[in-house]
Amino acid sequence: MKTRVFALIGDPVEQSLSPAMQNAAFGALGLNCVYIALRVPSAGLTDAVAGVRALGISGLNVTTPNKIKIIDLLDELDESANSVGAVNTVKNDRGKLVGFNTDGDGCIRALRGRVGSLRGKDVVLLGAGGAARAIAFSAVKAGAGLTIANRTASRARAVAEAIEQRLGSTVKLIGLNRAELARALRKADILINTTTVGMRPRIDETIVTSSMMHRKLLVNDIVYDPLQTRLLREAKRAGAEVLDGLGMLVQQGALSFEIWTGKRAPIRVMAAAAKRELKGRCP
Ligand SMILES: NC(=O)c1ccc[n+]([C@@H]2O[C@H](COP(=O)([O-])OP(=O)(O)OC[C@H]3O[C@@H](n4cnc5c(N)ncnc54)[C@H](OP(=O)(O)O)[C@@H]3O)[C@@H](O)[C@H]2O)c1
Repeated sequence: MKTRVFALIGDPVEQSLSPAMQNAAFGALGLNCVYIALRVPSAGLTDAVAGVRALGISGLNVTTPNKIKIIDLLDELDESANSVGAVNTVKNDRGKLVGFNTDGDGCIRALRGRVGSLRGKDVVLLGAGGAARAIAFSAVKAGAGLTIANRTASRARAVAEAIEQRLGSTVKLIGLNRAELARALRKADILINTTTVGMRPRIDETIVTSSMMHRKLLVNDIVYDPLQTRLLREAKRAGAEVLDGLGMLVQQGALSFEIWTGKRAPIRVMAAAAKRELKGRCP
Protein backbone atom coordinates (compact mmCIF):
# COMPACT_ATOMS: atom_id res chain seq x y z
CA MET A 1 0.00 0.00 0.00
CA LYS A 2 1.21 3.50 -0.79
CA THR A 3 2.59 5.50 2.10
CA ARG A 4 0.91 8.92 2.37
CA VAL A 5 3.35 11.75 3.04
CA PHE A 6 2.55 14.87 5.08
CA ALA A 7 4.93 17.76 5.72
CA LEU A 8 5.43 20.93 7.68
CA ILE A 9 6.85 23.76 5.56
CA GLY A 10 8.34 26.90 7.07
CA ASP A 11 11.55 28.43 8.32
CA PRO A 12 12.67 27.54 10.92
CA VAL A 13 11.07 24.11 11.44
CA GLU A 14 13.78 22.26 13.37
CA GLN A 15 12.16 22.98 16.76
CA SER A 16 8.64 21.93 15.69
CA LEU A 17 6.74 19.41 17.83
CA SER A 18 4.43 18.53 14.93
CA PRO A 19 6.44 15.58 13.49
CA ALA A 20 6.48 13.84 16.90
CA MET A 21 2.78 14.56 17.46
CA GLN A 22 1.49 13.59 14.01
CA ASN A 23 3.66 10.48 13.62
CA ALA A 24 2.50 9.28 17.04
CA ALA A 25 -1.12 9.80 15.94
CA PHE A 26 -0.59 7.92 12.66
CA GLY A 27 1.08 5.09 14.58
CA ALA A 28 -1.72 4.89 17.17
CA LEU A 29 -4.34 4.50 14.42
CA GLY A 30 -2.19 2.13 12.34
CA LEU A 31 -2.21 4.47 9.34
CA ASN A 32 0.42 4.08 6.62
CA CYS A 33 1.40 7.76 6.81
CA VAL A 34 4.55 9.71 7.59
CA TYR A 35 5.06 13.37 8.61
CA ILE A 36 8.28 15.27 7.98
CA ALA A 37 9.49 18.82 8.58
CA LEU A 38 10.92 20.61 5.53
CA ARG A 39 12.73 23.94 5.74
CA VAL A 40 11.10 26.18 3.14
CA PRO A 41 12.04 29.87 3.31
CA SER A 42 9.72 32.37 1.67
CA ALA A 43 11.74 32.48 -1.57
CA GLY A 44 11.30 28.74 -2.07
CA LEU A 45 7.56 28.56 -1.43
CA THR A 46 6.33 28.59 -5.06
CA ASP A 47 8.66 25.74 -6.01
CA ALA A 48 7.75 23.85 -2.83
CA VAL A 49 4.01 23.99 -3.58
CA ALA A 50 4.67 22.86 -7.18
CA GLY A 51 6.64 20.00 -5.60
CA VAL A 52 3.69 19.09 -3.37
CA ARG A 53 1.55 18.75 -6.50
CA ALA A 54 4.22 16.87 -8.49
CA LEU A 55 5.03 14.44 -5.68
CA GLY A 56 1.44 13.93 -4.57
CA ILE A 57 2.14 14.95 -0.97
CA SER A 58 -1.15 14.40 0.88
CA GLY A 59 -1.16 17.38 3.20
CA LEU A 60 0.80 20.22 4.77
CA ASN A 61 1.13 22.23 7.89
CA VAL A 62 2.31 25.73 7.08
CA THR A 63 4.23 27.94 9.47
CA THR A 64 6.15 31.24 9.51
CA PRO A 65 6.91 32.87 7.03
CA ASN A 66 4.55 31.11 4.61
CA LYS A 67 1.10 31.30 6.20
CA ILE A 68 -0.15 34.27 4.16
CA LYS A 69 1.94 33.94 1.00
CA ILE A 70 0.75 30.39 0.33
CA ILE A 71 -2.85 31.57 -0.17
CA ASP A 72 -2.19 32.63 -3.78
CA LEU A 73 -0.68 29.22 -4.58
CA LEU A 74 -3.69 27.15 -3.47
CA ASP A 75 -6.82 26.16 -5.43
CA GLU A 76 -9.37 26.83 -2.72
CA LEU A 77 -9.71 28.20 0.82
CA ASP A 78 -11.96 26.83 3.49
CA GLU A 79 -14.01 29.42 5.41
CA SER A 80 -11.60 29.22 8.40
CA ALA A 81 -8.61 30.31 6.29
CA ASN A 82 -10.59 32.79 4.25
CA SER A 83 -11.84 34.79 7.22
CA VAL A 84 -8.50 34.82 9.04
CA GLY A 85 -6.47 35.47 5.87
CA ALA A 86 -3.84 32.86 6.74
CA VAL A 87 -3.37 29.12 6.19
CA ASN A 88 -1.77 26.62 8.58
CA THR A 89 -3.14 23.41 7.02
CA VAL A 90 -3.41 22.22 3.41
CA LYS A 91 -5.25 19.14 2.19
CA ASN A 92 -4.37 17.66 -1.18
CA ASP A 93 -7.82 16.57 -2.31
CA ARG A 94 -7.03 14.45 -5.40
CA GLY A 95 -4.85 17.18 -6.87
CA LYS A 96 -6.82 20.15 -5.53
CA LEU A 97 -4.96 22.00 -2.78
CA VAL A 98 -7.38 23.35 -0.16
CA GLY A 99 -6.22 25.69 2.64
CA PHE A 100 -7.56 25.71 6.21
CA ASN A 101 -6.68 27.47 9.45
CA THR A 102 -6.94 25.36 12.61
CA ASP A 103 -5.12 27.74 15.01
CA GLY A 104 -8.18 29.59 16.26
CA ASP A 105 -10.46 26.59 16.64
CA GLY A 106 -7.57 24.67 18.22
CA CYS A 107 -7.32 27.28 20.96
CA ILE A 108 -11.09 27.35 21.46
CA ARG A 109 -11.24 23.53 21.67
CA ALA A 110 -8.58 23.60 24.38
CA LEU A 111 -10.52 26.30 26.30
CA ARG A 112 -13.79 24.36 25.95
CA GLY A 113 -12.10 21.43 27.66
CA ARG A 114 -11.89 23.68 30.74
CA VAL A 115 -14.90 26.00 30.67
CA GLY A 116 -17.41 24.31 28.36
CA SER A 117 -19.18 26.69 26.00
CA LEU A 118 -17.65 30.12 25.38
CA ARG A 119 -21.04 31.67 24.67
CA GLY A 120 -21.43 34.83 26.73
CA LYS A 121 -17.94 34.53 28.21
CA ASP A 122 -15.87 37.70 28.52
CA VAL A 123 -12.47 37.14 26.88
CA VAL A 124 -9.45 39.48 27.05
CA LEU A 125 -6.88 38.81 24.33
CA LEU A 126 -3.31 40.12 24.58
CA GLY A 127 -1.78 40.56 21.13
CA ALA A 128 -2.92 41.09 17.55
CA GLY A 129 -0.42 39.02 15.54
CA GLY A 130 -1.06 35.92 13.44
CA ALA A 131 -2.19 33.61 16.24
CA ALA A 132 -4.29 36.37 17.86
CA ARG A 133 -6.16 37.03 14.63
CA ALA A 134 -7.15 33.38 14.25
CA ILE A 135 -8.14 33.08 17.93
CA ALA A 136 -10.12 36.33 17.81
CA PHE A 137 -12.25 35.08 14.90
CA SER A 138 -12.88 31.70 16.54
CA ALA A 139 -13.69 33.26 19.93
CA VAL A 140 -16.27 35.61 18.42
CA LYS A 141 -17.76 32.76 16.34
CA ALA A 142 -18.00 30.73 19.56
CA GLY A 143 -20.12 33.51 21.07
CA ALA A 144 -17.57 35.15 23.38
CA GLY A 145 -17.43 38.89 24.06
CA LEU A 146 -13.93 39.98 23.03
CA THR A 147 -11.56 42.72 24.20
CA ILE A 148 -8.17 43.06 22.47
CA ALA A 149 -5.09 44.80 23.91
CA ASN A 150 -2.02 45.10 21.70
CA ARG A 151 1.20 47.13 21.87
CA THR A 152 0.63 48.45 18.33
CA ALA A 153 -2.91 49.81 18.41
CA SER A 154 -3.32 49.90 14.61
CA ARG A 155 -2.82 46.13 14.41
CA ALA A 156 -5.54 45.51 16.99
CA ARG A 157 -7.82 47.90 15.09
CA ALA A 158 -7.24 45.93 11.87
CA VAL A 159 -8.31 42.68 13.58
CA ALA A 160 -11.41 44.34 15.07
CA GLU A 161 -12.37 45.83 11.70
CA ALA A 162 -11.96 42.48 9.91
CA ILE A 163 -14.20 40.79 12.50
CA GLU A 164 -16.80 43.52 12.28
CA GLN A 165 -16.81 43.28 8.49
CA ARG A 166 -16.95 39.49 8.24
CA LEU A 167 -18.90 38.49 11.33
CA GLY A 168 -20.83 41.69 12.11
CA SER A 169 -19.65 41.66 15.74
CA THR A 170 -18.05 44.47 17.69
CA VAL A 171 -14.71 43.94 19.40
CA LYS A 172 -13.61 46.21 22.25
CA LEU A 173 -10.10 47.68 22.03
CA ILE A 174 -8.05 48.81 25.02
CA GLY A 175 -4.48 49.95 25.54
CA LEU A 176 -1.78 47.51 26.63
CA ASN A 177 -1.27 49.27 29.98
CA ARG A 178 -1.81 48.16 33.56
CA ALA A 179 -4.74 50.48 34.34
CA GLU A 180 -6.86 49.56 31.32
CA LEU A 181 -5.98 45.87 31.57
CA ALA A 182 -6.77 45.70 35.29
CA ARG A 183 -10.18 47.28 34.66
CA ALA A 184 -11.00 44.88 31.79
CA LEU A 185 -9.81 41.85 33.77
CA ARG A 186 -12.05 42.61 36.76
CA LYS A 187 -15.07 41.34 34.85
CA ALA A 188 -13.30 38.92 32.50
CA ASP A 189 -13.78 35.13 32.48
CA ILE A 190 -10.77 34.27 30.30
CA LEU A 191 -7.39 35.91 29.60
CA ILE A 192 -5.40 34.67 26.60
CA ASN A 193 -1.81 35.75 25.99
CA THR A 194 -0.84 35.51 22.31
CA THR A 195 2.12 37.88 22.51
CA THR A 196 5.67 36.58 22.51
CA VAL A 197 6.23 38.12 25.95
CA GLY A 198 7.43 35.41 28.35
CA MET A 199 8.84 33.25 25.57
CA ARG A 200 12.40 31.93 25.81
CA PRO A 201 14.84 33.64 26.30
CA ARG A 202 12.80 36.44 28.02
CA ILE A 203 11.19 34.05 30.46
CA ASP A 204 10.87 36.50 33.36
CA GLU A 205 8.62 38.93 31.50
CA THR A 206 4.86 39.26 31.76
CA ILE A 207 2.29 41.88 30.79
CA VAL A 208 -0.23 40.94 33.49
CA THR A 209 0.65 40.26 37.12
CA SER A 210 -1.25 38.48 39.94
CA SER A 211 -2.71 41.65 41.48
CA MET A 212 -4.64 42.24 38.22
CA MET A 213 -6.28 38.79 38.30
CA HIS A 214 -9.12 37.15 40.25
CA ARG A 215 -9.76 33.58 41.37
CA LYS A 216 -12.48 32.83 38.80
CA LEU A 217 -10.30 33.85 35.84
CA LEU A 218 -8.97 31.18 33.45
CA VAL A 219 -5.52 32.27 32.23
CA ASN A 220 -4.34 30.70 28.96
CA ASP A 221 -0.83 31.39 27.70
CA ILE A 222 -0.38 30.04 24.16
CA VAL A 223 3.40 30.36 24.50
CA TYR A 224 4.76 26.81 24.90
CA ASP A 225 8.49 27.48 25.23
CA PRO A 226 8.58 27.37 28.21
CA LEU A 227 5.28 25.73 29.18
CA GLN A 228 5.25 27.32 32.64
CA THR A 229 5.50 31.00 31.76
CA ARG A 230 5.77 33.86 34.21
CA LEU A 231 2.15 34.78 33.35
CA LEU A 232 0.95 31.33 34.43
CA ARG A 233 3.00 31.56 37.64
CA GLU A 234 1.35 34.92 38.38
CA ALA A 235 -2.07 33.35 37.70
CA LYS A 236 -1.39 30.51 40.14
CA ARG A 237 -0.34 33.03 42.76
CA ALA A 238 -3.70 34.79 42.28
CA GLY A 239 -5.55 31.48 42.69
CA ALA A 240 -6.73 31.59 39.06
CA GLU A 241 -7.04 28.54 36.81
CA VAL A 242 -4.30 28.05 34.20
CA LEU A 243 -4.04 26.47 30.74
CA ASP A 244 -0.63 26.23 29.08
CA GLY A 245 0.23 26.43 25.37
CA LEU A 246 0.29 22.69 24.89
CA GLY A 247 -3.52 22.64 24.88
CA MET A 248 -3.79 24.75 21.73
CA LEU A 249 -0.76 23.14 20.12
CA VAL A 250 -2.24 19.66 20.40
CA GLN A 251 -5.76 20.71 19.39
CA GLN A 252 -4.68 22.63 16.28
CA GLY A 253 -2.63 19.59 15.24
CA ALA A 254 -5.56 17.30 16.01
CA LEU A 255 -7.83 19.38 13.77
CA SER A 256 -5.25 19.15 10.94
CA PHE A 257 -5.08 15.38 11.45
CA GLU A 258 -8.86 15.14 11.22
CA ILE A 259 -8.96 17.26 8.03
CA TRP A 260 -6.36 14.99 6.36
CA THR A 261 -7.57 11.58 7.53
CA GLY A 262 -11.29 12.05 8.26
CA LYS A 263 -10.63 10.19 11.52
CA ARG A 264 -10.91 11.39 15.11
CA ALA A 265 -7.47 12.38 16.39
CA PRO A 266 -6.00 10.47 19.35
CA ILE A 267 -5.60 13.57 21.51
CA ARG A 268 -3.93 11.88 24.48
CA VAL A 269 -1.34 10.16 22.29
CA MET A 270 -0.55 13.47 20.56
CA ALA A 271 -0.28 15.36 23.87
CA ALA A 272 2.02 12.70 25.35
CA ALA A 273 4.26 12.77 22.25
CA ALA A 274 4.51 16.57 22.33
CA LYS A 275 5.30 16.54 26.07
CA ARG A 276 7.98 13.88 25.61
CA GLU A 277 9.56 15.90 22.82
CA LEU A 278 9.50 19.10 24.91
CA LYS A 279 10.97 17.35 27.93
CA GLY A 280 13.84 16.03 25.85
CA ARG A 281 14.78 19.57 24.88
CA CYS A 282 14.31 21.94 27.80
CA PRO A 283 16.25 21.17 30.93
N1 LIG B 1 0.31 27.01 21.38
C1 LIG B 1 0.19 27.09 20.07
O1 LIG B 1 -0.35 26.19 19.41
C2 LIG B 1 0.67 28.30 19.34
C3 LIG B 1 0.29 28.55 18.01
C4 LIG B 1 0.76 29.70 17.36
C5 LIG B 1 1.60 30.58 18.04
N2 LIG B 1 1.98 30.29 19.32
C6 LIG B 1 2.86 31.21 20.06
O2 LIG B 1 2.21 32.47 20.12
C7 LIG B 1 3.16 33.53 20.12
C8 LIG B 1 2.80 34.53 19.03
O3 LIG B 1 2.87 33.94 17.75
P1 LIG B 1 2.39 34.75 16.43
O4 LIG B 1 2.65 33.85 15.28
O5 LIG B 1 1.03 35.32 16.62
O6 LIG B 1 3.47 35.96 16.45
P2 LIG B 1 3.35 37.39 15.74
O7 LIG B 1 2.42 37.36 14.60
O8 LIG B 1 4.75 37.82 15.50
O9 LIG B 1 2.72 38.34 16.88
C9 LIG B 1 3.45 38.69 18.02
C10 LIG B 1 2.59 39.49 18.99
O10 LIG B 1 3.36 39.74 20.16
C11 LIG B 1 3.37 41.15 20.44
N3 LIG B 1 4.62 41.53 21.10
C12 LIG B 1 5.89 41.15 20.76
N4 LIG B 1 6.79 41.68 21.62
C13 LIG B 1 6.08 42.42 22.52
C14 LIG B 1 6.43 43.19 23.65
N5 LIG B 1 7.71 43.35 24.04
N6 LIG B 1 5.43 43.80 24.36
C15 LIG B 1 4.15 43.65 23.99
N7 LIG B 1 3.73 42.92 22.92
C16 LIG B 1 4.70 42.31 22.19
C17 LIG B 1 3.20 41.79 19.09
O11 LIG B 1 2.74 43.12 19.26
P3 LIG B 1 2.94 44.24 18.09
O12 LIG B 1 1.78 44.04 17.15
O13 LIG B 1 2.89 45.50 18.81
O14 LIG B 1 4.28 43.95 17.45
C18 LIG B 1 2.14 40.86 18.48
O15 LIG B 1 0.86 41.16 18.96
C19 LIG B 1 4.51 32.83 19.95
O16 LIG B 1 5.07 32.65 21.23
C20 LIG B 1 4.16 31.47 19.36
O17 LIG B 1 5.11 30.47 19.68
C21 LIG B 1 1.52 29.19 19.98
